[in-house]
Amino acid sequence: AFLGIDIGTSSCKALLLSADGTVIGTQTSPYGFDQPREGWAEQDPHLWRDGAARAVKALLSEHDVELACVGLSGQMHGMTALDAGDEVIRPAILWNDQRNAVECAEITDLAGGLDGLISMTGNQMLPGFTGGKIRWFLKHEPQAFERTRIILNPKDYIRLLMTGERMTEVTDASGTGLFDVANRRWSDELFDCIGLDRQLLPPALESAEIAGKVTSQGAQIFGIPVGTPVIGGGGDAVIQTLGSGVAAPGRLQTTIGTAGIVAAALNAPLANTGGRVQISCNVLPDKWHCMGVSLNAGSALEWWRGLHGSDDRSPPHFDELSEAAQQVDLGSGGMLFLPYLMGERCPWPDPDARGAFVGVRSHHSLAHMHRAVFEGIVFSLRDMAGLIDPERAPEGLLIHTSGGGSLSPFWNQMQADIFGAPVVTTSNSSHGGAFGAAILAGIGKGHWQGVDDIETICKEVNRWSPMASAHVRYNEYFAHYQTLHEALLAVSY
Ligand code: XUL
Repeated sequence: AFLGIDIGTSSCKALLLSADGTVIGTQTSPYGFDQPREGWAEQDPHLWRDGAARAVKALLSEHDVELACVGLSGQMHGMTALDAGDEVIRPAILWNDQRNAVECAEITDLAGGLDGLISMTGNQMLPGFTGGKIRWFLKHEPQAFERTRIILNPKDYIRLLMTGERMTEVTDASGTGLFDVANRRWSDELFDCIGLDRQLLPPALESAEIAGKVTSQGAQIFGIPVGTPVIGGGGDAVIQTLGSGVAAPGRLQTTIGTAGIVAAALNAPLANTGGRVQISCNVLPDKWHCMGVSLNAGSALEWWRGLHGSDDRSPPHFDELSEAAQQVDLGSGGMLFLPYLMGERCPWPDPDARGAFVGVRSHHSLAHMHRAVFEGIVFSLRDMAGLIDPERAPEGLLIHTSGGGSLSPFWNQMQADIFGAPVVTTSNSSHGGAFGAAILAGIGKGHWQGVDDIETICKEVNRWSPMASAHVRYNEYFAHYQTLHEALLAVSY
């Protein structure tokens, strides 16, 4: 069997996949993260170690299997700084931390501006990425930085404990913003421009390559037999695209979780004009990955839902909101909702972006507002999809959806109608990165070959077909929606 381990932000999930592609079992071990100041997000890496140890040991004690290979997945961009003895120096600075906008701007200037930076790496330096965090660390905590010998991503820290190898792979390396994504190697040019020591970042393997074997210390911590091979693995947002069955062009993956993600597999790296999307190496060799990540999807609905509760009344259940929303016609009576409640990363990289209800009239009811929230979140996905494949309308695509939002048939139909494309759910995609990591472990061992096998393992479960008349009407609302962010800049303060 193949073991997939996903080091998430709120939990670690371990999953066992059999050689015929069925899920044998899963275990999840939750933990929290800290927000020491507004806009900051940190986590003690030992929580990942302990969470992974608990989940994996529980899983392996339930199922008596022979482990062929381990695949790691994890939250991307988390800056994990270690000293010469591999001890953790400070809490990891996470993907959703927004403290380093100044440092990102400095890096961009040193690289000769946005175009210069994009020509070196394929990406702009987003505050979510690791590069700006490293510079913040160097500037604000110079003594701790001085002691740092290696900077790893979250799952790579687990690999170090498991195998003794200080190593990353091409997808998490892409997420640092310091990697030359087109050429699948560190951008020595950018390291030179910003005066950062290249040795602080580990070698980057291909994701399906074997990175090491479990040591006796690793076996003790995680309960995995000594000598079990561990592949490179991948950043969660990239590897879950594979686990959703999207491994070749022509399909889009959407995720409505806390964040909203629109992703595609590419045969060649895309020119990321203006740096509005994230370009990454794919977990499959000679393939690339492109995604837009919105910070406001499920989280925007959760905000709205939470407003309807009070001290003595809990907020309505998700189903109540969606049932009420279905009572009003599509388009929410001409009301639009812009979901940028926490600033935004894509399609507008703007930490100060604001949300809005626009076009409110006295005939509108609360149900119109509910529906406008559901619609606004999907409009934001479609907006990002336009950046991934500007040449091609989404109508020609097949959309694989996952995340908590995909449990709602109402929302899935809305996605089909707004994109004008069929929406499918696939088996086990709800297991996210852990499922993708286990499949990749099978690929690493040579048990599966690639795209065809992936599409066989990730079977279609349900399908929602677009309704032509609804799509035409949504197109009109979407055209208005797309003008909102820029129109509202004039009234942001
Ligand atoms: C991807 C991203 C998130 C994190 C969280 O760029 O920031 O998907 O990886 O898990």
